[in-house]
Amino acid sequence: GFDAALRHPQPQPASFAPAPARSLTILYGTETGNAAELARTLEAAAKAAGLTCALADMADYKVRQLGQEQDLLVIVSTYGEGDPPQPATGFFEFAEGRKAPKLEGARFAVLALGDSTYEYFCQAGKRIDKRFEELGAQRIAPRVDCDVDYEEPAAEWIEAIVAQLASEAEAAPGPAVATVSGAGVAPASAYDKRNPFPAQIVDNIAIVGRGSDKETRHIEFSLAGSGLHYEPGDAMGIAVSNDPQVVAALLDALGLPPDAAFEWKEQALTIGEALTHRFEITAATPRFLDYWALLSDAAALKQLQQEDRAGERSVFLRTHHIVDIVRRFPVGEVMPQGFVSALRPLQPRLYSLASSLSAAPEEAHLTVSPVRYALHGEARHGVASCLLADRAPPDTTLPVYIQSNPHFRLPGDDKPIVMIGAGTGVAPYRAFMQEREARGAEGKSWLFFGERRFRTDFLYQTEWQGWLKDGTLNRMDVAFSRDGEQKVYVQHRMKEQARDLFGWLEDGAHVYVCGDAANLAPDVHRALIDIVAQESRTSHEAAEDYVRSLQADHRYQRDVY
Ligand code: 2AM
Repeated sequence: GFDAALRHPQPQPASFAPAPARSLTILYGTETGNAAELARTLEAAAKAAGLTCALADMADYKVRQLGQEQDLLVIVSTYGEGDPPQPATGFFEFAEGRKAPKLEGARFAVLALGDSTYEYFCQAGKRIDKRFEELGAQRIAPRVDCDVDYEEPAAEWIEAIVAQLASEAEAAPGPAVATVSGAGVAPASAYDKRNPFPAQIVDNIAIVGRGSDKETRHIEFSLAGSGLHYEPGDAMGIAVSNDPQVVAALLDALGLPPDAAFEWKEQALTIGEALTHRFEITAATPRFLDYWALLSDAAALKQLQQEDRAGERSVFLRTHHIVDIVRRFPVGEVMPQGFVSALRPLQPRLYSLASSLSAAPEEAHLTVSPVRYALHGEARHGVASCLLADRAPPDTTLPVYIQSNPHFRLPGDDKPIVMIGAGTGVAPYRAFMQEREARGAEGKSWLFFGERRFRTDFLYQTEWQGWLKDGTLNRMDVAFSRDGEQKVYVQHRMKEQARDLFGWLEDGAHVYVCGDAANLAPDVHRALIDIVAQESRTSHEAAEDYVRSLQADHRYQRDVY
């Protein structure tokens, strides 16, 4: 145990008992599992250093406990417009709200995860860091903000924090306390994010009709021989590579031949390999802008860089890929090593699994809508979605791993479920139905599905109809937004069914939302609150509380992107 009172002398009640050890809590907020994994690494490091600690997910954390915390280490990621991970929403509302307790006497440190291509980089971590200080807690160490290549800075932060706390503990009197906690999960497979499994593609077909303005595809992978296992609601990670044409265009703009060789982390690489397999080469980041402004004499670039520093994440960064900056601000000779050091490591991409192992043993199915758009008069492609759509025919392989998603889980077989999704957001519900059919689950189920047009975009139509027939699915309401004069979305269908929907909630239904994070998720959220207010004849505030408690009870789960 250790006692920070030794470092920060404060009046203590007279007592002959040994100074109690300060409690240590590791609190994480996670969406795709990275913050959770780091929190477990931190917990293991703390325990290895002889520290006693508790590990808590913000999603399950009893907020009333916050006022009792002594040392709090927070690891949290950021989504969208500076938002915390969905499962951490309740914790943030409490911590930032009027009911938050004073944290005088507490200490804290924050590790923030984010993506520097977004304007509100690491904002959720910044918010907690600021808020805990406002509440009177003292910082153990400065906040560290990590970009998508978080591994190194995160490992350094963990090491430094643990070393500091351990040395305080050594200096302090009191018995060392040993604890056993944390459910150890046995590794089921030799394959994971760091060592993905080369999965063979078994099928890759368009599932929209001719004339659709989408290209949504159904893609089946074989996991045979991998030992990989997943639950409905989980996601699959794909280790991607960049489009050879995009690599060629960038090399051309840089004036570098693909075989230009250099050394990277004690390894010989060619720039062609590096840009294909190792680095993100589309979206520009502030780090890249800094690097390019050093090479370039263009005053316009320095100006842009300053605007960005001033916090006005310019439209420029959002509308210029790396190749656009290279073309617009030509420089002299570019050294391969310097160039790649301004880039971010290529990240795997996650897709919600559209299958259940009970129905499709040793397989993994995805529903993918390729992202294509034009920028500066040129066609541009989403890295993973277009790799899957254009360069992954049957019999080819792609490296994959399973990303578990404990915040999107089927309840017990007898519980009713309401599934709300639009577009490819319907994928996990196909997994849910496959699973419930295989298990002969008795709980009722209701699907709200939205897409553009009935004739071309009714994804997996015959499968839903089959499940309606055999009773796996009990109700289905569809919203085809572009079939009529006026837009009809899933939330409109929900409101039309307000009474029944509220009845399901009162019967203990679990509600799921999957799909677009920017519009669909907030619109559906508002619709739920309106429905509860209307049907229970209460105030908007009381309805908000109702929905908040659904969330706290894990009966309202979202998988949005
Ligand atoms: P739209 O493209 O016609 O506007 C899948 O993309 C479906 O989700 C489409 O029908 C799309 O409609 C719809 N959609 C777009 N914005 C939405 C929102 N805010 N709420 C619900 N559905 C939405």
